[in-house]
Amino acid sequence: MKILGIESSCDETAVSIVENGKIILTNVVASSADMHIKYGGIVPEVAARKQVEVIVPTLTEGMQGFTPDDIDAIAVTVGPGLIGSLLVGVEAAKTLAFTWKKPLIPVNHVIAHMYASFLEHNPPHFPAVSLVVSGGHTELYVMESEKDITWLGGTLDDAAGEAFDKTARLLGLPYPGGPEIQKAAEKYAVVSSRVTIKLPRPMMDESLNFSFSGLKTAVLREWKNSQPQTEEITGAFAHEIQEAITDVLVTKTLKAAKQHNTKSIIVSGGVAANKRLKEKFTAKLEGKISLHIPSPKLCVDSATYIAAYAFYHNKPKSWKEVTAVPNLSVEV
Ligand code: KG4
Ligand code: ZN
Repeated sequence: MKILGIESSCDETAVSIVENGKIILTNVVASSADMHIKYGGIVPEVAARKQVEVIVPTLTEGMQGFTPDDIDAIAVTVGPGLIGSLLVGVEAAKTLAFTWKKPLIPVNHVIAHMYASFLEHNPPHFPAVSLVVSGGHTELYVMESEKDITWLGGTLDDAAGEAFDKTARLLGLPYPGGPEIQKAAEKYAVVSSRVTIKLPRPMMDESLNFSFSGLKTAVLREWKNSQPQTEEITGAFAHEIQEAITDVLVTKTLKAAKQHNTKSIIVSGGVAANKRLKEKFTAKLEGKISLHIPSPKLCVDSATYIAAYAFYHNKPKSWKEVTAVPNLSVEV
């Protein structure tokens, strides 16, 4: 079964054809990320206007080598995301479903993220605990099978990626903050600085919920007290921010894995690209539980896992009933 996936929930516009939830046949991603750098974050209006321009060329490229007859169904992200952005993909998908007479499967972007690991050569085993860490979400799920998912907990305030982005901004580092914090932290470790900063690890309690807004406040307070703000001090902050966020993510995920006696841990979303996070998971698991972090190409937003998710959750709706839902719940 070949599913055409369409994704436009944030600043990417992406199209992909995936066979049987496993084999990527085409994968095209157009991003307006560069346009947001000068503003220090995503500007929804700018993103949506760019998406209107690129949706048709992206679809044309994503369909290259295939005709509508080859496609069995269309899958589209309906939420959560930015309303203007979501509408571009949703309206395109509805138009195609109507004109090509294809089933249309609405997809939850956050839940779909974890299906990136099923597109890799060595897929996860069940039961699996899945951590989705992006700019907008920090969510934990348990998967009993590809079709059976239960939400365990999530962030009560800022997401992990947001914590990286906001604290990076406080340190004067560019957007997106995650890769910049990682870079500054790596440099700091190399020079083995004399400066050390101590930051809290918020909500290291029994619950499987997260909270990162306190970390941001602590960084703000400590940073204001640090004079002069040299490159070495920036590095020390970046190092400790990365340690604090990854400590919380690893501890909570392992707690969930223990509770559910899982065979695999799946990590997905933009923050899954963080090297220190992978290092910590690898060290703690010691090969007892398999770790599944998609390759960088599948960590970032694309339509590949939108189409993969739709293969396992094949619940089409009439195009007339499919609408964009910016605040779509991620709890299942
Ligand atoms: O999933 P994603 O591409 O977009 C959505 O939010 O849906 O995630 C973007 C987030 C940003 O907050 C970015 O700073 C973070 O992922 N990120 C990283 C790294 N690469 C991207 N965070 C930490 N370390 C990284 N290497
Ligand atoms: Zn995403």
